[in-house]
Amino acid sequence: MEIWVSQDYQSLSQKACGMIEDEVTRNPAAVLGLATGSTPLQTYHEMVEGYRRRSVDYRHISTINLDEYVGLGEKDPQSYHFFMKKHLFDKININPARTYIPNGLAEDLEDECRRYELLIDQIGPPDLQILGIGQNGHIGFNEPHTSFKSETHMIELAESTRKANARFFESLENVPRKAITMGIQSILKSKKILLLASGENKAEAIRSLLEEPPSEDMPASALCYHEDVTLLVDKEAYKKV
Ligand code: GLP
Repeated sequence: MEIWVSQDYQSLSQKACGMIEDEVTRNPAAVLGLATGSTPLQTYHEMVEGYRRRSVDYRHISTINLDEYVGLGEKDPQSYHFFMKKHLFDKININPARTYIPNGLAEDLEDECRRYELLIDQIGPPDLQILGIGQNGHIGFNEPHTSFKSETHMIELAESTRKANARFFESLENVPRKAITMGIQSILKSKKILLLASGENKAEAIRSLLEEPPSEDMPASALCYHEDVTLLVDKEAYKKV
């Protein structure tokens, strides 16, 4: 795993954006695996700036997102569909027909998981997968004890994850209890992975990722089995290492 320690969130986001832009410049039809949460927000903002200032061209790319809450549709401001449109897709020249996110409103959710995994194989796998990390080490919505062999599946959100994400909702009660997520195995299919972590509240997860042996207690530790992972952290997130 290659590790880059940035001074702060801003420089981390600029570096992440630079890596994405390099990928898209090298390969205009690149498949990007995208994440939600607050960590990649500034990266997306930098991409929008890069699109406006440097005319980075996203016309031919495809994107595959990691996860979506069960029960939230694209018009719901808390859905990951809405998040991606608001912060990125509506602001660059991406083709909306080539942006893929699990359907949290599917009638048959098991079937939706199977469809999504097939799609990862058909459209992808991503040339570059962006990941954030939960305080408990989750990636996507793969909570601790998820099998490293898992493919796209439905999960019950850990109480700690619901609490951590409650800031985006009116109250904890409104945070969905289930989500569809790419599995660990699905994520490991990506050709390259860029894991982003910013802030002191991620320091323990980063310490455990780098210092403990890989274990299903710590979903992100599965990344140790991938041969092309870059960890981009800021000083705060790196302070326990
Ligand atoms: C959510 C998302 C993850 C994300 C994590 C961390 O649970 N499903 O993909 O990495 O939160 O979020 P944040 O970046 O807001 O700390």
